[in-house]
Amino acid sequence: MKTRAIRVRRLGGRSAALASAALIAAAAPFMLGLDDDGGDDGGDGGGGGGGGGGGSGSYVVFAQNDLGMHCMQRDYEHFMVLPPFNTAHAWVIRRGGEPHILGSLGAGQSLTFHIPSNTRSADKTNWWRYQTDLLGVNTPPNVGLTGNGLSGEMTPGNGRTFELTGIPLTPLDDAGRNNPYQLATVEFKDGNTVLASTQTVIPVSWELRCDLCHGDPSPGINTDLDILSDHDRLHGTDLINNQPVACSSCHADPALGAPGDPNLPSFSSAMHSAHADRLNDLPVELVTDCYACHPGQRAQCQRDVHLTMGMNCEDCHGLMADVGNPARTPWVDEPRCANCHSRPGFDFEPAGVLYRDAKGHGGAACVICHGGPHGITPAVTEADNIQPMRVQGHPGTIDTCTVCHTHQPGENFFHSRDD
Ligand code: HEC
Ligand code: HEC
Ligand code: HEC
Ligand code: HEC
Ligand code: HEC
Ligand code: HEC
Ligand code: HEC
Repeated sequence: MKTRAIRVRRLGGRSAALASAALIAAAAPFMLGLDDDGGDDGGDGGGGGGGGGGGSGSYVVFAQNDLGMHCMQRDYEHFMVLPPFNTAHAWVIRRGGEPHILGSLGAGQSLTFHIPSNTRSADKTNWWRYQTDLLGVNTPPNVGLTGNGLSGEMTPGNGRTFELTGIPLTPLDDAGRNNPYQLATVEFKDGNTVLASTQTVIPVSWELRCDLCHGDPSPGINTDLDILSDHDRLHGTDLINNQPVACSSCHADPALGAPGDPNLPSFSSAMHSAHADRLNDLPVELVTDCYACHPGQRAQCQRDVHLTMGMNCEDCHGLMADVGNPARTPWVDEPRCANCHSRPGFDFEPAGVLYRDAKGHGGAACVICHGGPHGITPAVTEADNIQPMRVQGHPGTIDTCTVCHTHQPGENFFHSRDD
């Protein structure tokens, strides 16, 4: 039996989340677009889908988006909260008695990323019209802030990780369907031969519901202009005559590397502390009040095993005022697994390292075995369970040793880092 000490704040009385999870699963049948062969590209280690019980080829590939959900806007005419910007990470593991995580690729080898159902963005958002006014950049249509498009070759990142940064993805696929959980295909190739592949969710949404409180569609008061004029009236600014406005030009935003004005609250702190009490006046009932601005009542960005356990945002992040606490560094001081989980012999994230960047067993990234933030497997969303399904035939933590090891290891599993 495992021993645990799990403490959860305000966990009681949240069984409603369970019901809502089931409801969402039924009400939002997002198009999955699962590769019809379950990913068995020539008997590779990334296949094995359907059969279950571990890999068979020489390599296995895993991929994850860095954030649990990237939030963007469709319309940048008036202001920018965040630009289109998804970042995907991938790992190539050579299977063996001692699996080896590749740090670089050999001559002729490549690791490619594409989203079959979504190949263009420039006709889906007006970002490219306003990017110069907002951030002083001028990238061609369908190219994002770091020079990457919607598909491309992944390059070595930090510590045996490959990455494609700043993918300018929108939630609208090429058929015009809104799907915050689109599937990317990542293929490890030698020449044209696919050695291993995987599919992973690249979550993105523009479901910000500022309109629940700002603006009024019937007399035609535009939500965004209402926000700018409230800001001008309350804080003596002149944003209305300086559109489009990058909020991060004055309020620091670590997500954009924007230092802001040191005398002003950070963007996150300003938004959460100023709106903390206002949420009492939300005109509708949401699964969580956080979905007034975070995606969202429809997208349900917190979709993981913790939702199934009846937990929600505040259980991990605290209340609005806690998120808005100016003592926090936004985007850096985030919840940690060890806040609630403990188990003898188990290491979790090292101090100062975010879950998404941390490594465990044999130097393998936590997200390989557990899924991305808010998508800790088994998730409520089918698409998030596809990656574990493909390699081990069941959703949930990668607990099938032969996904990476060619033989069942003789020794016990260790969860701690060894490098
Ligand atoms: C629960 C309702 C609610 C929601 C949702 C909401 N706001 Fe507000 N917001 C308010 C109220 C109330 C005010 C104060 C208006 C006033 O005093 O005239 C306000 C004021 C503001 C201001 C003025 C600065 C200040 O002092 O707060 C900004 C900027 C703002 N909101 C941005 C946003 C954005 C951006 C979103 C969506 C991401 C949003 N709000 C969502 C209720 C809301
Ligand atoms: C030109 C600089 C500037 C820009 C651009 C700007 N702000 Fe502000 N903002 C301020 C100032 C000044 C204050 C008042 C700060 C204070 O009183 O400490 C403020 C306050 C706020 C507050 C209230 C904070 C609080 O604790 O009461 C919110 C919310 C806010 N801004 C949101 C936004 C949003 C959203 C945008 C983009 C649409 C934005 N700001 C763009 C200068 C700016
Ligand atoms: C009124 C709108 C609004 C509401 C309501 C809201 N947020 Fe946010 N939140 C934002 C905006 C805007 C950002 C982006 C800030 C940035 O880019 O730095 C953000 C960013 C964040 C971040 C990442 C940055 C950081 O501070 O670490 C976290 C975490 C977060 N919100 C948690 C929550 C939680 C938990 C709730 C509910 C208790 C909540 N938010 C409710 C507007 C809101
Ligand atoms: C089980 C705990 C848990 C719950 C529940 C949870 N979060 Fe998080 N959240 C995290 C962790 C851990 C991170 C940091 C992940 C990382 O980047 O390594 C995070 C990061 C974030 C971020 C930063 C960007 C990102 O996606 O990584 C935002 C915004 C956020 N959470 C909002 C929310 C909202 C809104 C909810 C509810 C709808 C929520 N969280 C529920 C644990 C949780
Ligand atoms: C706020 C507390 C809290 C945080 C933070 C948290 N968890 Fe959990 N987690 C729980 C609770 C409570 C359960 C349900 C445990 C049970 O019923 O036995 C759970 C269950 C799980 C499970 C299901 C399997 C199991 O052990 O029962 C996994 C996997 C998991 N958490 C992983 C994570 C990871 C990875 C992180 C960090 C990104 C994390 N958790 C952060 C409280 C938390
Ligand atoms: C090679 C796969 C693998 C890697 C890498 C990995 N884990 Fe795990 N993790 C597991 C397995 C297997 C379990 C046990 C699941 C069970 O008992 O049901 C587990 C359990 C957990 C639990 C639940 C512990 C409990 O019982 O309360 C948490 C939280 C967790 N891991 C976090 C992490 C974090 C954080 C990292 C990175 C620092 C990480 N894991 C890396 C496979 C992995
Ligand atoms: C995601 C891939 C992955 C999975 C799944 C995995 N391992 Fe490993 N394992 C590794 C890596 C990588 C190493 C480090 C090899 C090295 O030393 O370079 C390793 C090393 C080990 C070692 C150290 C001795 C050795 O052979 O190098 C043992 C023992 C081990 N794993 C046991 C297990 C067991 C038991 C399981 C199933 C519960 C498991 N592993 C699942 C990737 C994995």
